[in-house]
Amino acid sequence: MCWCGSGRKYKKCHADFDERISEMKFNVMKGQVRPPRNIINNEKDIEGIRKSGVVNDGTLDLMEELVRPGVDTASLDDAARKYIESHGGIPACLNYEGFPKSVCISVNEVVCHGIPSKKTILKEGDIVNIDVTTILDGYFSDASRMFIVGGKTTPEAQRLVDVTRECMELGIQAIKPWGWVGDIGAACGNHAHANGYSVVTDLGGHGVGKKFHLEPFVSHNTEQGTGMLLAPGMVLTVEPMINQGTYKVDVDKSDNWTVRTHDRKLSAQWEKTVLITETGTEILSS
Ligand code: MF3
Ligand code: CO
Ligand code: CO
Repeated sequence: MCWCGSGRKYKKCHADFDERISEMKFNVMKGQVRPPRNIINNEKDIEGIRKSGVVNDGTLDLMEELVRPGVDTASLDDAARKYIESHGGIPACLNYEGFPKSVCISVNEVVCHGIPSKKTILKEGDIVNIDVTTILDGYFSDASRMFIVGGKTTPEAQRLVDVTRECMELGIQAIKPWGWVGDIGAACGNHAHANGYSVVTDLGGHGVGKKFHLEPFVSHNTEQGTGMLLAPGMVLTVEPMINQGTYKVDVDKSDNWTVRTHDRKLSAQWEKTVLITETGTEILSS
């Protein structure tokens, strides 16, 4: 029986996969490593993550309808939780390592892990990241989008939001089966730097699916051809956090969650959950 849990005979399942990896040379100097078996998803796992992603995307679509000047972020969080729960899911962030709310809402200089609050009231021109992770039937999907409150902001903020989205898309386009995880951060990082921005390196993307955070860590500022091998069946997030000023960030001392830019200039982030297939990629949540 195959180790992937498909219930199929090994020879007809991952034998060729193992053979291919065993024939490869891994350059230790470039940090090249083989993916562990526990992050290779079978068809049943992939279908589970795909279904979870449908609920996750629906939650983000709902957020798009609700974001407007004057709304507080706790009420957005409440609506997200109700949507996920009414579709049979669980908001993965709620109580995750003590996180007190169902989604992360990060406004302007907040890089990520913003805690929704009645006191945080959105105003016209704010740039806001809402990051949603859904568990459905045990499968995790994770995505975030930027929203511009009232639909209009400064040209500087708009450019940051647009370039950050391009960084994510270029990072995803750099994913090739039998490529390397460092290819992602090379594409993201080069585009950010070419536009005069910095890349947050203290946090990054991750494997996702049977758990919230799995190997590999996905840095958004790396060299091509480095890090873990990208193999079919892996599912990971690409979620660049791009700053106007310094790449340095601070974690709020009073809540231990809110991550802000050290210089309090703006930060943006977009995130998708991506499956690596035999021929390319499939987006499982966005
Ligand atoms: N969704 C975030 C990510 O992209 C993680 C949030 S963890 C929380 O990995 F606890 F802050 F919710
Ligand atoms: Co996320
Ligand atoms: Co993530």
